[in-house]
Amino acid sequence: MPRIADLFFKTAILFLVVGIGIGLMMAISGNHDVVGAHAHINLLGWVTSALFGGYYALNPAKAEGRLPMAHYAVYTLGVAVMSVSLFMLLSGNPAMEPIVALSSIVTLLGVLVFAWIVFAPARQGIAPRPMAAE
Ligand code: HEM
Repeated sequence: MPRIADLFFKTAILFLVVGIGIGLMMAISGNHDVVGAHAHINLLGWVTSALFGGYYALNPAKAEGRLPMAHYAVYTLGVAVMSVSLFMLLSGNPAMEPIVALSSIVTLLGVLVFAWIVFAPARQGIAPRPMAAE
């Protein structure tokens, strides 16, 4: 598996642990104020990161070069900062709003880097892995 796929999966599982932790915290306390943070950590942090990892695992040619690492760094930074600041905002800290806004834009930039990678032609000379015989 390309290193970038492994990195995305390892990061995704950390987000899932935090996301489920917040879910359980809400369920136990009966206070659902931070449901937005829970949903975004699980969907942007766990589901989307794991999908990125799956894409690179299935397309090793697209995992080559510096762009996938830029994708990982920008996207993960955006989601991590957004997760913490959104949690704090929803917990009653309105001062966090600009940080949530800024980190959302960083997250979008990470997604745009991925869109570029998906649409750009794959590098030459990296053969796709042969499919296992049925
Ligand atoms: C043990 C694991 C989990 C627990 C205990 C949990 C708990 C909760 C709770 C208490 C709510 C608030 C419901 C409400 O206020 O209406 C919620 C909402 C939500 N959860 Fe989870 N959750 C878990 C896992 C997940 C996962 C893995 C995902 C996504 C991959 C997810 C996505 C969502 C979403 C999108 C909402 C918002 C639903 C809405 O507003 O209609 N949750 N969860």
